[in-house]
Amino acid sequence: MTLKPLIDVLAGHRVSPPPVWMMRQAGRYLAEYRKVREEAGSFLNLCLNPKLAAEVTLQPVRRFGFDAAILFADILLIPYALGQTLTFVEGEGPRLTPRIGPENLETLRDSAEIGRLTPIFETIRLVRGQIGPAVALLGFCGAPWTVATYMAGGGGSPDQAAARLFAYRDPRGFARLIDVVVQASVDYVVGQFRAGADAVQIFDTWSGVLSPEQFEQWCIAPTAQIIAQVRNQVPEAKIIGFPRGAGTSLRRYVEQVAINALSLDWTVDRAYARDIQSHIPIQGNLDPHALLAGGPALDRAVDAVLEAFAGGPFIFNLGHGILPETPTSHVEQMLARVRGG
Ligand code: CP3
Repeated sequence: MTLKPLIDVLAGHRVSPPPVWMMRQAGRYLAEYRKVREEAGSFLNLCLNPKLAAEVTLQPVRRFGFDAAILFADILLIPYALGQTLTFVEGEGPRLTPRIGPENLETLRDSAEIGRLTPIFETIRLVRGQIGPAVALLGFCGAPWTVATYMAGGGGSPDQAAARLFAYRDPRGFARLIDVVVQASVDYVVGQFRAGADAVQIFDTWSGVLSPEQFEQWCIAPTAQIIAQVRNQVPEAKIIGFPRGAGTSLRRYVEQVAINALSLDWTVDRAYARDIQSHIPIQGNLDPHALLAGGPALDRAVDAVLEAFAGGPFIFNLGHGILPETPTSHVEQMLARVRGG
């Protein structure tokens, strides 16, 4: 056992009460975040300013005593390091220009300008120096499929249409885009471990829109490649996989992707997921809308998650990021329930 409960779970141990953190725990639901965000001017400035990024990384850990700090950055820093221009339009979300498609794929750099990401590694070093010995420091990257949906779409979209059409119309070109993102992600994740991350989560937010064959090709294979290549350089690298919306493809994912824990959304059948937990630690599953609802509904939702998974190796978390309008009192209520307060 180590000093860090979350790392013990990733090593396959059951810890009681389970360690807790929240996806998007540093963010707009916190007044102290909004203040620093305003000071930084733009979201990208905040990500690239190690002092401010370290501060917002630490804010939720200080306020709630979470068992993990997650690096404050964004999955879209990989497209930025590959030469796309990244802006965040207030109220609209991220914009990436130019969009990448079959017609301009050759404009994409072959490899990331890793120098553009050095401020992120510096944020990790700063956080490392300021967190207690029991708190795990998590890095992250987007899975290549999810990152490609933003690169092809020029931002978010309801149906990830641009990337899906690209993959149908020019599978070889699309495979090249995925390969470039794989290589950039390997360098990015290795850099995060070398700077002091204890573990890394790979976010595949849009894996649920693909057919089973495409899921194999664009989600499983590239993510497995990232992990194999990262472990060539960092043999003990601990990695959490989050293929959101993967449903009954989750079993194939855990069979083929060498992760240390599987993060679940809230739509998955719990009996099916418990079966998976007999092979691999589980994280997540609480619906962010249950956290937003609060009251007895939140208590019931927390209890259902604990009942399903707390008997085995488990990290308590949401099934996706916390919603910006969530009251902090609901987070406190959730924590008290999980920790038996
Ligand atoms: O606290 C943490 O979890 C760490 C920081 C983090 C952010 N983004 C900060 C952020 C992490 C892990 C991410 C991951 C991320 N970013 C994902 C994968 C997970 C997910 O949520 O699905 C995706 C798809 C992105 C891309 C992205 N970044 C979008 C679509 C948006 C706009 C939506 C929104 O919530 O505004 C962002 C912006 C963003 N990333 C914010 C934060 C705190 C909000 C920006 C702001 O403060 O104005």
